[in-house]
Amino acid sequence: IGPALIDRHGRTISYLRISVTDRCDLRCRYCMAEQMTFLPKAAVLSLEEIAIIAERFIARGITKIRLSGGEPLVRRDVGQLVKRLGLHVGAGLDELTMTTNGNALTEHAPALVAAGMRRINVSLDSLDPDTFRYITRHGDVARVIGGIRAARDAGLAVKINMVALKGLNEQEISPMLRWCVEEGLDLTLIETMPLGQIDEDRTDRFLPLTAVFDDLSSNFALMRDTYRSGGPARYWRVAGTETKLGLISPLTGNFCDTCNRVRLTTEGVLYTCLGHDDQVDLKAILRGEGVGGLDAALDAAMLTKPARHDFDISATAPAVARHMSVTGG
Ligand code: GTP
Ligand code: 5AD
Ligand code: SF4
Repeated sequence: IGPALIDRHGRTISYLRISVTDRCDLRCRYCMAEQMTFLPKAAVLSLEEIAIIAERFIARGITKIRLSGGEPLVRRDVGQLVKRLGLHVGAGLDELTMTTNGNALTEHAPALVAAGMRRINVSLDSLDPDTFRYITRHGDVARVIGGIRAARDAGLAVKINMVALKGLNEQEISPMLRWCVEEGLDLTLIETMPLGQIDEDRTDRFLPLTAVFDDLSSNFALMRDTYRSGGPARYWRVAGTETKLGLISPLTGNFCDTCNRVRLTTEGVLYTCLGHDDQVDLKAILRGEGVGGLDAALDAAMLTKPARHDFDISATAPAVARHMSVTGG
């Protein structure tokens, strides 16, 4: 056990996001280019190395771990990691969770529950088969919906992540919220963020959630809810239902002053902000000095965490060159 991780802006870091693979079986247009170069296996942390680093974080006060990607469920044997980290749930960790595209959830859901997961987030940007296929380039919406239901039926609370995209799914936001109410799921809407080169112009697709929220308010009775998930969303409840609506508005409602997060990449690099390149190479330290070197590296990382991102959706180049899939969102 060591001292809590507090950055130079006084924010306590309690949430570690781990990208377990940069690979994905989909190619969402706002996330990836059609042709991606993925990391060679030797550059990637082993599951054992991920666990060692995560356990050092737990000893330093991390209470929430999210496995992400790429698509976490495409990493072979990821269940081993889930099982190992699950041993800390209730003993250091309050929450072990995952963000997934849902493609392989039907097979994996029971093991996630058995390992101690209670809740997952699933990306689903459209319920329409053609729109879903267009956005993800390869996805089959029926398969993902099947995965979502399997997860729910296995006992996981499911929150849908929907990136709001002008001209693509903007007409589907109200129907999606209605569907979530019917299915007993939560919904979080996300503003598209400028990370990594993609094959289209993000400016054309940016939809401010301020406008989306006004529109939803005319269709649903939304009540502000003080619930916090430990992530960046602010929540409303659809009156008379169990469904929570979350809004993640990095562009129209900056939330960086309450940031509690850092990100470990597949390559073992710790990024202290989604929107900046400040980093510490934990893999080099672990493979060099060994686990004993990690504490000093985490302390050093706290001194580099930027105050906030400066995303600009109309800039010609993305804020950072790496894709969301490198840092796990
Ligand atoms: P909860 O635990 O349910 O609150 O999940 P979460 O929102 O922390 O995680 P999720 O993986 O579902 O992420 C949803 C979206 O929030 C993704 O697009 C992330 O990139 C984005 N997000 C998460 N943390 C940050 C952050 O610190 N800054 C910014 N700009 N976006 C973030
Ligand atoms: N902007 C906003 N959200 C994104 N995601 C992936 N790329 C972006 C982006 N550029 C979302 C995915 C997933 C979550 C981890 O991040 O849809 O739900
Ligand atoms: Fe894959 Fe998620 Fe990126 Fe879509 S958003 S391409 S599912 S990593």
